Amino acid sequence: MNKKIIIAIDGYSSSGKSTIAKATAKHLGYKYIDSGSMYRTVTLFALRNNLIDKKNSIVQEEKLKNILDTVHINFKINDLKKRQEIYLNNENVEDEIREMEVSNYVSFISKIKFVREKMVRIQQELGKEKGIVMDGRDIGTVVFPDAELKLFMNAKAEVRAERRYKELKEKGVIVSYEEILENVKSRDHIDETRDESPLRKASDAIELDNSSMSEDEQLQWILGLLEKKIN
Ligand code: DC
Repeated sequence: MNKKIIIAIDGYSSSGKSTIAKATAKHLGYKYIDSGSMYRTVTLFALRNNLIDKKNSIVQEEKLKNILDTVHINFKINDLKKRQEIYLNNENVEDEIREMEVSNYVSFISKIKFVREKMVRIQQELGKEKGIVMDGRDIGTVVFPDAELKLFMNAKAEVRAERRYKELKEKGVIVSYEEILENVKSRDHIDETRDESPLRKASDAIELDNSSMSEDEQLQWILGLLEKKIN
């Protein structure tokens, strides 16, 4: 029997982490968790409760701290869509958290220490039994520093913006490429320079620039790495 491991995939926004993470999880029969969706869900919660001053991008942290205990996050498999979906207090918010409104404010929520602490606790619990692929920004550095396989994905900002643009367009979201490129760049900046768990490549992570790689090439690459880890 193959041994079950933890696979941590970190990298910049829209660097293709989730595509490769999902394909790998499917191939191995592992659980897949998109940790970014959890920060997006807290952002949606904060927006709905008017805890973000949108004009100045200021979060009412004290108020958020006081009600964060009422935020319950779960994942459930949607058999029809064959995907994992995220729930906020038993409401399916998988699609709503991908909208630009949430994308525009998520960095202001994900830099808050007490929010990160809560998310990391949930993530570690989800990985307790191994057999998991998790993607995010701090999975190899903070959430699972002992993960057996750590990857760090990157691609040029323009390539990442183009991918995101296509993704949103397919979903019928009306947004310009320029707006997305701007959002990608500003999130990179905030993710890299924040005090709490800034985006960093773990020293033992393997880096992949996938700017000019197809999905299949990426999957073959990761399967090659896995050969040595799970057998
Ligand atoms: O992967 P994504 O673009 O959906 O992530 C949304 C935001 O959440 C992104 O701006 C960075 C943040 N994030 C984080 O700080 N830590 C993680 N483990 C995952 C995401």
